[in-house]
Amino acid sequence: MHDFKQSPLHYSVLWKESAIFLNITESTKHIDATLGMGGHAQYFFTQNPHLHILGFDQDAQARTIAQKRLNTFIANNQLEIIPENFQYLKKICTEKNYTPTSILFDIGVSSLQFDDKNRGFSYRFKAPLDMRMDQNTSLTAHEIINTWSQEQLQHIFSLYGEEKYSYRISKKIIEQRKIKPFETTTELANYIVSIKPFSKKTLHPASLVFQALRIAVNNELEVLETAIHQAIHILAKGGRLAVITFHSLEDRIVKNVFEHYISKEKRNKYKQPTSPSQQKQFCLKKITKKPLTPSETELAENSRSHSAKMRVVEKL
Ligand SMILES: C[S@@+](CC[C@H](N)C(=O)[O-])C[C@H]1O[C@@H](n2cnc3c(N)ncnc32)[C@H](O)[C@@H]1O
Repeated sequence: MHDFKQSPLHYSVLWKESAIFLNITESTKHIDATLGMGGHAQYFFTQNPHLHILGFDQDAQARTIAQKRLNTFIANNQLEIIPENFQYLKKICTEKNYTPTSILFDIGVSSLQFDDKNRGFSYRFKAPLDMRMDQNTSLTAHEIINTWSQEQLQHIFSLYGEEKYSYRISKKIIEQRKIKPFETTTELANYIVSIKPFSKKTLHPASLVFQALRIAVNNELEVLETAIHQAIHILAKGGRLAVITFHSLEDRIVKNVFEHYISKEKRNKYKQPTSPSQQKQFCLKKITKKPLTPSETELAENSRSHSAKMRVVEKL
């Protein structure tokens, strides 16, 4: 059996804390909104051998690995894998009449995706500019870089990458692609290195643009906000929702959506993404006063966990 923390392809974060804070027991009806390689699911199953999990992932490769990994020690009917984006959480749970008592989101890319030499998530490997988590969707990083306007590129570099040279980089990309379109990750990364001021001590000069592209290709922030609202709607009373994020843009969304259901004043101010008929007011209680972060031990074992933050709420 694999170690539940570490598949050869992905090291799960805050696995123990998520089980504790979600109150996972044998009778929990759990949703893993980001099943990935099934690391969290495996830990929850090992602690609760009769647990039931509905697991979403939009990445076919991840689903195949999770299914194989988890099949070795659970019964057939304990895990149902949904090959969908979690933006359909509410629709699918309503169709299945499934009222979860705990939901986990472990947002972002997995190491399987990030370290895959062919999928274009990283500037470390030469690959086509792709970055789709769901390979059935059509928008790729290639299309964004080679067809979007300078304003659109600057907008995503600045908003999703918090890249302070967004104007300069977008302007130069437009000039360069007229000579030759960008085809690969390394062409784009090397070009950014050639035009952006940087010091050797900081991040790789292309990392913020790559982050921005990935978020845009997968529409990550919009989908996250929609799905967190849906999760709160479908959760059983007394049920718990935990969200693990890896950068401040995601964490801010989670914090704001939670606050919307926690604080009455903020509830009135916050933009409502749903129609008035859907705006039934649900209330949440904070379980983690401040976001939880990985322990020293976890940080020592898995350096990629350093930016992880987990917020947990309970539905009243
Ligand atoms: C950080 S990994 C999850 C790892 C998992 N918890 C584990 O321990 O193995 C995130 C996973 O979420 C999936 N994902 C990200 N956004 C998604 C979305 N909008 N809908 C469905 N799956 C998504 C990715 O494909 C990836 O496999």
